Amino acid sequence: MIKISYDIKIYRKILGNVLNENDVVVELGSHIGKTSKLIAEKVENGKLICLDNSPEATTKMNNLKLVYPNLKFINGDVRLHEVLKQVTKIINKCDTLAIDLGGGYHPDTVFKVYYIWASTLKPKHTIIRNKGLVDFINTSVTCENIQSKEGWLESCGCEGIPPQIDEFKLWTSIIK
Ligand SMILES: C[S@@+](CC[C@H](N)C(=O)[O-])C[C@H]1O[C@@H](n2cnc3c(N)ncnc32)[C@H](O)[C@@H]1O
Repeated sequence: MIKISYDIKIYRKILGNVLNENDVVVELGSHIGKTSKLIAEKVENGKLICLDNSPEATTKMNNLKLVYPNLKFINGDVRLHEVLKQVTKIINKCDTLAIDLGGGYHPDTVFKVYYIWASTLKPKHTIIRNKGLVDFINTSVTCENIQSKEGWLESCGCEGIPPQIDEFKLWTSIIK
């Protein structure tokens, strides 16, 4: 299941509804951990891997790790292959992928990050916060019935980290 919202309260509520105590969750764009706390409490016997590239995030997220031993924080840019690879080395499943890279902006970046991370981690659920994607989906009409049941696009293949991910390096430097 893939759920997309813009309102942060709705994003957190959807997350709360899908999480179970043993789940493994990857959160892209944790900032200083306001949503991370809610997730860590819900998955008390599971694991939460939080990622953010903001310098503001590091101290607060490291403090949060002391409160929630099931939480791990990685300060990194989620557009980078190396960062995704680091996460694949520390988890062997992903129940939920949560993505909030700044809900109002860059649906293109968010979708690309979603596609690469989800096709690698194969989450059961993906919860995304992004206004542009909500608008795009609500404004579009599809003309064919292609659908996936999980939190990743099964119809696009099942090949682990796609070789095309190398493209990310180029794309990242252009964005910066
Ligand atoms: C709106 S904030 C997230 C808020 C958080 N989800 C919450 O509920 O409080 C967006 C975060 O995404 C992070 N971010 C944006 N692009 C990123 C990237 N390429 N890699 C890692 N973090 C990124 C920003 O640093 C920022 O902290």
